[in-house]
Amino acid sequence: MRWWPIVLALILVAFGSRVQPPAALAATAPPPGPVVTIPPDYRTWVYASASLALSYPDEEAKLTALARAHLPPAKTADQKPAFQNVFVTPEAYRAFVQTGHWPDKTMFVLEVRTSVARQSKFLSPGGLYQGDIVAMRMEMRDDARYPSKWAWFNFEQNNGAWRPTLPQPEPAKNCLQCHADHGAVDDSFTQFYPTLFAIAKAKGTVKPNYAK
Ligand code: HEC
Repeated sequence: MRWWPIVLALILVAFGSRVQPPAALAATAPPPGPVVTIPPDYRTWVYASASLALSYPDEEAKLTALARAHLPPAKTADQKPAFQNVFVTPEAYRAFVQTGHWPDKTMFVLEVRTSVARQSKFLSPGGLYQGDIVAMRMEMRDDARYPSKWAWFNFEQNNGAWRPTLPQPEPAKNCLQCHADHGAVDDSFTQFYPTLFAIAKAKGTVKPNYAK
C-alpha cells in the first residue's frame, strides 16, 4: 500500500489546479468592462494614411507563431503586397493638431486590404488598387481602464463579420513591444502618416529614441 500517498498527492494537485487559475492566465485576464468591437462608423473617422507591404521582419521573427498570426500580413496569400489604411477618431485628431500628442480616448483602426492588379488592358501594367479586407486591428488609449494607458485588439473574420479575438486586450508582447520600440509618437506609427508627422515635428513630440 505504499502507493496511496502518491495517489492522494495527485488528487490534491488536480484539485488545486482547478480552484486556482495558473498565474500566467490570471495576468492576461481582461479588465472588467464590455468587449471591445470595431465601431461601425470607423470609415467616417479621419484618414491618417495608407502604406503598402510595410513590416519590421526582424521584430516579427522574435514573436511567437501565435503573435505573428495576429499581425497584419505584409503580403497576402497570393504574395501581393497588402495595403494598410489607418483611421483615427476625429476628436483625437483635433487634439493632436493642437498638442502633437494622442489624447486619452484616442482610437485607431488599421484596415488591411489585398492589392489587386489591373483587370483591364487599358490600365497601366504595374498599377495596383485596394481589394477586400484581410485583417483588422485596433488600438485605443483609455487611462482609467488600462494600467499601460494604451491597449491593442485583434479581430478575425467569422461569417462575414469581424469579431474580437480573446483574450482582450492583446498581451503586451504581441503588440506593445514593436510599437513602443519603433513608433515615433506615443507608441503609434505617426512617422508613416505624413501630415500628422509634420505636426508632431513642429510640436516637438517625436520620441528622440525611436528606432526607425
Ligand atoms: C513587428 C512590429 C509590429 C507589431 C508586433 C504590431 N504592429 Fe501594429 N503597426 C506596425 C506598423 C509598422 C504600423 C504602421 C502601419 C502603417 O502605417 O500602415 C502599425 C500600425 C498599427 C495601428 C495603427 C495606429 C498606429 O499605431 O500607428 C494599429 C491599430 C495597430 N498597428 C495594431 C496592432 C495590433 C493590435 C498588434 C498586435 C496584435 C500590433 N499592431 C502589433 C507594426 C507592428
